[in-house]
Amino acid sequence: MTGPYVAPAPPVTLVIFGATGDLTRRLLVPTLINMIKSGLVGDGFAVLGVGIEPGGDEMLRERLGKFLLDNKIQFEDGGIGWRNLSERISYISGDFTQDSIYEQIGQRLEKSGHGNAAFYLAVQPRFFGDIIDKLGDHKLTTETAGYFRRIAIEKPFGTDLASAKALNVRILNRVAETQVYRIDHFLGKETVQNIMTARFANMMFESLWNSNYIDHVQITAAEIVDVGTRGKFYDETGALRDMVPNHLFQLLAMVAMEPPNSFDAEAIRNEKGKLLKALRVYSPEEAKHNGVRGAYTAGSLAGKDLPAYTQTPDVNPDSKTETFVALKLFVDTWRWACVPFYLRTGKSLTARDTEIVVTFKQVPFAQFHGTEVQRMLPPNKLIIQVQPNEGLHMEISIKRPGLVVDTVPVSLDFRYSDMFDIGNTTGYESLLYDLFIGDQTLFQRADAIEAGWAAVQPFLDLWSHSGDKPDPYAPGSMGPQCADDLIERDGRKWHEPQVLRKDK
Ligand code: BG6
Repeated sequence: MTGPYVAPAPPVTLVIFGATGDLTRRLLVPTLINMIKSGLVGDGFAVLGVGIEPGGDEMLRERLGKFLLDNKIQFEDGGIGWRNLSERISYISGDFTQDSIYEQIGQRLEKSGHGNAAFYLAVQPRFFGDIIDKLGDHKLTTETAGYFRRIAIEKPFGTDLASAKALNVRILNRVAETQVYRIDHFLGKETVQNIMTARFANMMFESLWNSNYIDHVQITAAEIVDVGTRGKFYDETGALRDMVPNHLFQLLAMVAMEPPNSFDAEAIRNEKGKLLKALRVYSPEEAKHNGVRGAYTAGSLAGKDLPAYTQTPDVNPDSKTETFVALKLFVDTWRWACVPFYLRTGKSLTARDTEIVVTFKQVPFAQFHGTEVQRMLPPNKLIIQVQPNEGLHMEISIKRPGLVVDTVPVSLDFRYSDMFDIGNTTGYESLLYDLFIGDQTLFQRADAIEAGWAAVQPFLDLWSHSGDKPDPYAPGSMGPQCADDLIERDGRKWHEPQVLRKDK
């Protein structure tokens, strides 16, 4: 099935800071090739790379082309898509702190004929503030001449509440919020965008979407991958910072926000911001009871021997950084009063499985009272399978055929791949397209980012001051025992990842 026609974005120069880095070659370049092929950008689209490596346009083109070829990325068409993009790429070499770089950028943008520019900061977060200051000094962010100037910022946005606030102040001192596109790549995922449609385009879900009918919500982002070569970044970051205030909270906001008054970007961002601000901010004592963490030990995963996290290159052998985290949170609104939200994420787990499980309350049992059925009847669940095998599943109970009344749980399944060709997309196509057309719906606003950090700050404080190390867990498991204890003490259980369910 194909979607409706989408008009190409207006002419724009994408200025990539960090053009020789990993993000550019692995994600941005393949995305841009897809966008050219599908007509999401037109003839007026160009890329201006900026990086510290010496060289000119040819150096960058050759480097990127070699990477795609060596890794067999986007070459199914014999390289036609890449050649089309490559002709549009130019390069400026230099240090991000040098004024001469910004002067050159200004000259190139003037020559573009349209003046529209999107500055993409694919660099280490410590450069964000400096680059935006320099862009401001050189008037490159000024929009008064009728063209647009936008800034896209990758995560991590700050490392805690204070640093996120400071960064927002620094950025907003230079540009307006309408020019800032804070990226969370989870929002580029088709299934994440579908949460809103599933909720607000279907009467049957939304009418039950509250604490009268919902018992609890689970959000899991399990990964098989280990920390591998990312030791330096990861040891300073940990699972909580890396995944929770950003990716998992985006899922939470989509699932729990109030219906926006329209599908206008600000209407949606208002509701997401409101929801994240309603996340209960725990006292230190409450944080102790509502969060647990773990770190993987040595073991074997997917047939390979894996060193313990603390033996990973560039990781402190005495590290207290967690590679797994599980939290029990509350959203203090009328709709969600007393409904727990259980979140967990980790590396080196059983399976790659990102899912949201909405568990409904038990039926009142009137007609099953005192029977075996009452004891066996599982609650309804709605499972939003974010990845892989993207889809939506509803678990309901039916009567097993036969003479006695016996119920059996069955699943009503929808899988995207059964109906649509999602194709070879990276998930960034919609994000970059929206950046170019000026739609901020899928980007995070300053207040929402800060609200997310505020909710995790008590756990950051607790664990940074605690002398304890995270609990151990074996690679290939679903995390430490304390994560099971966290939910089981409430009489509930984690939903099994789909690979385990399939084996049954
Ligand atoms: C990134 C994290 O933001 O998201 C990684 O830094 C994580 O540690 C990744 O692996 C997960 O994204 P995805 O799209 O692979 O689920």
